[in-house]
Amino acid sequence: MNILLFGKMGQVGWELQRALAPLGNVIALDVRSTDYCGDLSNSQGIAETVRTVKPEVIVNAAAYTAVDKAESEQNVARLLNATSVGVIAKEAAKIGAWFVHYSTDYVFPGVGHVAWTEDDTTAPLNVYGETKLAGEKAIQELCSKYLIFRTSWVYAGKGNNFAKTMLRLAKERTELSVINDQFGAPTGAELIADCTAHAIRTALLKPEIAGLYHLVASGSTTWFDYAELVFKEARKAGFPLAVVNVKPVPSSEYVTAACRPSNSRLNTTKFQKNFELILPDWELGVKRMLAELFTSTVI
Ligand SMILES: NC(=O)c1ccc[n+]([C@@H]2O[C@H](COP(=O)([O-])OP(=O)(O)OC[C@H]3O[C@@H](n4cnc5c(N)ncnc54)[C@H](OP(=O)(O)O)[C@@H]3O)[C@@H](O)[C@H]2O)c1
Repeated sequence: MNILLFGKMGQVGWELQRALAPLGNVIALDVRSTDYCGDLSNSQGIAETVRTVKPEVIVNAAAYTAVDKAESEQNVARLLNATSVGVIAKEAAKIGAWFVHYSTDYVFPGVGHVAWTEDDTTAPLNVYGETKLAGEKAIQELCSKYLIFRTSWVYAGKGNNFAKTMLRLAKERTELSVINDQFGAPTGAELIADCTAHAIRTALLKPEIAGLYHLVASGSTTWFDYAELVFKEARKAGFPLAVVNVKPVPSSEYVTAACRPSNSRLNTTKFQKNFELILPDWELGVKRMLAELFTSTVI
């Protein structure tokens, strides 16, 4: 089986290279690939790639993910997150391929305290969310064999992440302010990739399982409590911290170009039931990522 993967160097894409490998022959591309076009800003090139590779499964982990920058770069964000996604969906339908894609909690308006279900009404607060929602809609319109996974607060050991930023700041400063009125579930790229591989296997056997799903770790937290956990684990591991005062602050004290939803909780009942999987608590993955960070040595 040929699996075409877009966005191989992103947080999720990197883990997908590992998780998809046992399923078949993975043709993994990124924006710099030369064998085939993997640049989502080149819609025609992407279409040509699908037509040439003729994969059984297409997984798109590439996206325009710069949430604040998207406010001033609407056209690029729309091209990558919606137009090219629609092009892939159309080509996937033509060859009968499965299309697996990722979306976001930012499609919701963020009001209330209840976890959003797949049937809840969307109303994005920012351009990134709008373009991701447009991508979802294009897929639903243009192909039938699709899996869309809405996820949130993605982190990975590779590259930068919230925990690493907090540790760097906590090493340099004695006081830190962290937002405490946005709720969500930090979700590891590893978990997303492993669940994706399992979901693809299930979908190949049970095509009726196609659809839109919420895929996040269980439980929820705030950025403030997330940071507190990072510092607690750091102290336990003997990691040097200068910070003495971590202050919880509302989002209104931390102005960004893009507005963020307060309630990013996603209800994952549909995913867990249909794919017969249990999504572990968010702390499990974060502690594991931190343990790897604290024990890693640079050779
Ligand atoms: N990160 C989150 O917190 C979060 C939350 C909810 C949903 N999601 C969704 O989850 C999926 C995976 O996100 P992620 O966290 O893995 O994002 P990521 O690490 O930012 O990865 C996105 C990848 O897309 C690549 N890319 C950028 N422009 C491209 C182009 N023109 N053509 C091809 N590739 C391009 C990026 O390359 P460069 O790095 O070289 O630009 C990067 O490797 C995305 O659909 C995202 O919207 C993410």
